[in-house]
Amino acid sequence: MTQRTLVLLKPDAVARGLAGEIISRIERKANWRLAAVELRTFERATLELHYAEHVGRPFYEPLLEFMTSGPSIALIVEGENVVPGIRALAGATDPLQAGPGTIRGDFATITRENLIHASDSAESAEREIKIFFPAHA
Ligand code: TYD
Ligand code: MG
Repeated sequence: MTQRTLVLLKPDAVARGLAGEIISRIERKANWRLAAVELRTFERATLELHYAEHVGRPFYEPLLEFMTSGPSIALIVEGENVVPGIRALAGATDPLQAGPGTIRGDFATITRENLIHASDSAESAEREIKIFFPAHA
């Protein structure tokens, strides 16, 4: 099934010089294509919409603090089964639980700074694309 997904390379990915490595892992998959790319330091209001499901959780404020701390890269990626595919490429939320060969497993050590966001369903992807790329909604 051809789908699209929203990917964020978080501030740690840009600051650590891992953006190229991560994009290259995504592009290595045949039939996945970049449909939009933008480097931007996110506004808090944008992230409040994006992370609405986590309001009130203990990690919410530190997460928003981190996510506004520097430039990120937002992407739309499209292709066959790209939603579960990029979740699998990213690995578990907690990098210590993420397997070798995954982005988080290979490069991250703490949950808050886990390098990448990828939409968790096709419905989430459409909701999140509206937030970060209204012109592509
Ligand atoms: P979540 O949606 O559960 O994970 P994922 O990014 O894998 O979809 O959480 C969103 C982000 O919040 C997560 O990438 C990192 C941060 N977070 C924490 O800092 N601590 C936590 O305990 C959890 C669950 C998430
Ligand atoms: Mg999530």
